[in-house]
Amino acid sequence: METIDEINEIEKDLVNLARLSSQGADEDVRLLLAKLVRKYRVARPELASQLDLTLKASRTRSNGPAVLRRGMSMPEPSTMPVDADSRQSLIRVFDDLDGMPAPLLPDLLFVRIQSLVRERQERDRLAAHGIKPTRSAILVGPPGVGKTLSARWIANQLGKPLWVLDLTTVMSSLLGKTGSNLRAVFDHAKQNQAVLLLDEIDAIAKRRSDESDVGELKRLVTAILQEVDAWPDSGLLLAATNHPELIDPALWRRFDAVLMFDAPQAAVLAAAVRRFLGADLNAFEGWVDLLTSSVQGMSLSDVERSINALRRHTVLENSDPAQAVIDMAIKGAPNLDKPSRQQLAIELARSGSLSHNKIMTLTGVSRDTIRKYAGPSPIKGRGPKKGV
Ligand SMILES: Nc1ncnc2c1ncn2[C@@H]1O[C@H](COP(=O)(O)OP(=O)(O)O)[C@@H](O)[C@H]1O
Ligand SMILES: [Mg+2]
Repeated sequence: METIDEINEIEKDLVNLARLSSQGADEDVRLLLAKLVRKYRVARPELASQLDLTLKASRTRSNGPAVLRRGMSMPEPSTMPVDADSRQSLIRVFDDLDGMPAPLLPDLLFVRIQSLVRERQERDRLAAHGIKPTRSAILVGPPGVGKTLSARWIANQLGKPLWVLDLTTVMSSLLGKTGSNLRAVFDHAKQNQAVLLLDEIDAIAKRRSDESDVGELKRLVTAILQEVDAWPDSGLLLAATNHPELIDPALWRRFDAVLMFDAPQAAVLAAAVRRFLGADLNAFEGWVDLLTSSVQGMSLSDVERSINALRRHTVLENSDPAQAVIDMAIKGAPNLDKPSRQQLAIELARSGSLSHNKIMTLTGVSRDTIRKYAGPSPIKGRGPKKGV
């Protein structure tokens, strides 16, 4: 039988445990669990062994993939910087350590990204010649072209998680705290030799419209400038923006490298269509060109969304790939102008899987026009025959 004191003691431990786990302080939870296992081993062996099992399970999980165990630094959840008031984490962690495909990028850009990685991997060789690796880079380009994804990939190649300070979501935490939150993030990243991404860094400039923030913003920009200057070459500091014109020139100058992400060109779009078709690539193989031309001008994240919609549609409607592609090409762009409609009709005709008659019904482009550009229909026996 327990005495009142024993019950009080257990209640206290329970409350403690609940508090730490609700804060997401995993390492502290583990420390407390270990303490409780020792504390209750004699008086309550049953409880102690249950706690011990929980502890062991959580350790296995927190050990992470093998690559990290070889002396790489894994973020300690308990020490990840949090907002002093809300206790919300300031950093988002992307852990792609199970592996991820390389981003689809123009060759030249990809080569530059690979060399960022290589410089880090061969830091010692560079150091032997007194050369330092690139410490920092800013990734510039329109939304959805793979800036954040590329940062994740870079970290992944270095066997590290990517830590993201997303300026659009943490601005209010960074302002009004005399820079302490920002410093906490940078200090922590430096200690862990992290790959840190300052994502959507133009968010700082956007806030300038709000008069009351001006002083605070100036201090924040100054604090960031200092942090970028003081960034050691043991870590890699990345920043990303859709709005280079809003970036303070003083900040801009401080990055060692500028990586330009342009809207994707045809070759990248074709590769993206293939990748996003995934397991359905075979079924759509004959349609890749048409799909590629129907996603001209889109960002890769939009391409991914369209192709996913196409795949869902094909399954749910049980439609054949040709019909699904046409539906997407036409319904996906209901305001297709006349030249684009013609272009689409001609490509459909060239793909050889539909009669000119069918193409005319779908696109409203006359059979004569189709024949003029695409040559005679290879499909016989469908649609009204003309002579022959
Ligand atoms: N270059 C790319 N290669 C492969 N997938 C991409 C690429 N760009 C975008 N995507 C897809 O779109 C999503 C959003 O891209 P993201 O990297 O967040 O764009 P950005 O940061 O440039 O706005 C990615 O997670 C990925 O699924
Ligand atoms: Mg992004």
